[in-house]
Amino acid sequence: NWPSFVQLKEVGPRDGLQNEKQFISTEDKIAWIDMLSNTGVREIEYSSFVNPKWIPALADAKEVGKRIKRNPNVLYSALVPNMKGLENALEAGIDGASVFMSASETHNQKNINKAIDDTYPILKEVIKEAKQEGKKVTGYVSTVFDCPYEGPISPEEVIRVCEQLMEYGVDDISLGDTIGSAVPSQVELLLNTILKRMPSERIFMHFHDTRGMAIANIMTSLQYGINRFDTSIGGLGGCPYAPGAAGNVATNDVLYLLHGLGVTTDIQDKRIQDASIFIQNKLGKKLPSRSFAYVEST
Ligand code: HMG
Ligand code: MG
Repeated sequence: NWPSFVQLKEVGPRDGLQNEKQFISTEDKIAWIDMLSNTGVREIEYSSFVNPKWIPALADAKEVGKRIKRNPNVLYSALVPNMKGLENALEAGIDGASVFMSASETHNQKNINKAIDDTYPILKEVIKEAKQEGKKVTGYVSTVFDCPYEGPISPEEVIRVCEQLMEYGVDDISLGDTIGSAVPSQVELLLNTILKRMPSERIFMHFHDTRGMAIANIMTSLQYGINRFDTSIGGLGGCPYAPGAAGNVATNDVLYLLHGLGVTTDIQDKRIQDASIFIQNKLGKKLPSRSFAYVEST
């Protein structure tokens, strides 16, 4: 039993590129995001307004935001860590702001240079301001299953962070398997706990595919009624502060699963393939997606 419609948020231009050593030119990013805008996807996380010293691959976020062609059917969001990031994002143009923090203390510290308790007041202000500006706000919670530094994280630790972000006014929560370590029983444990406290309509699942478990975890989430997922075209991506973690689950592979199950997404496979070929050629290396590799070799 699974939902008949599933919404994918394309995070390739943000999570996909943030960890790439090779700088994709601003022109190429814009051309690629414009291609993604015409795939049928309803939300694109187009860049990140963090400190460019930390994430040089996305240092051109403002220019990208100003120059992409906006499709009125697409919600354009970006990652925002603090008020400075929000100001820049508003100037560049966003429909949605994605704030982020971790359920694990050590990952939070490594990723955003702050303790969890010191992060709350910063995000509270960002969320309030973004809502006042009429933006949709997503709260990413990282390391919801395992932390690369601390090991397993309990559902209670995750829920504590989610409830705080919900109280500040986020519209959605995205639960991140940052290092791609979870297996379906961990997904069941977390969803069994979390769905007692918040509705499934407010949850996105964000799986990295380090160990090839993401599709199994998505299937499990679908059976819990979850119908929103973050995916990255071709399987690009990774968190620079999660050593060894691979990219997000590939949009291509998730579409193969969903369309095979008869689930509607409104996304056109062929256009996703074209956008995959475009970025693969720019990066000059094979993308990790399995279904994309299959299409190419036939
Ligand atoms: P900080 O160094 O603690 O910040 O950084 P600060 O407030 O002390 O400021 C230090 C300097 O940074 C100052 O510049 C600020 O102006 C500048 P200086 O005076 O030294 O020249 N600065 C900024 N510049 C541009 N834009 C900004 C900004 N903020 C401060 N927004 C900060 C704190 C969070 C900014 C920093 O730690 C940072 O940028 N971290 C990057 C974290 C990141 O991007 N990680 C990857 C994304 S998260 C992820 O991938 C997980 C996710 O996918 C879900 C999952 O998979 O689990 C979302
Ligand atoms: Mg991620």
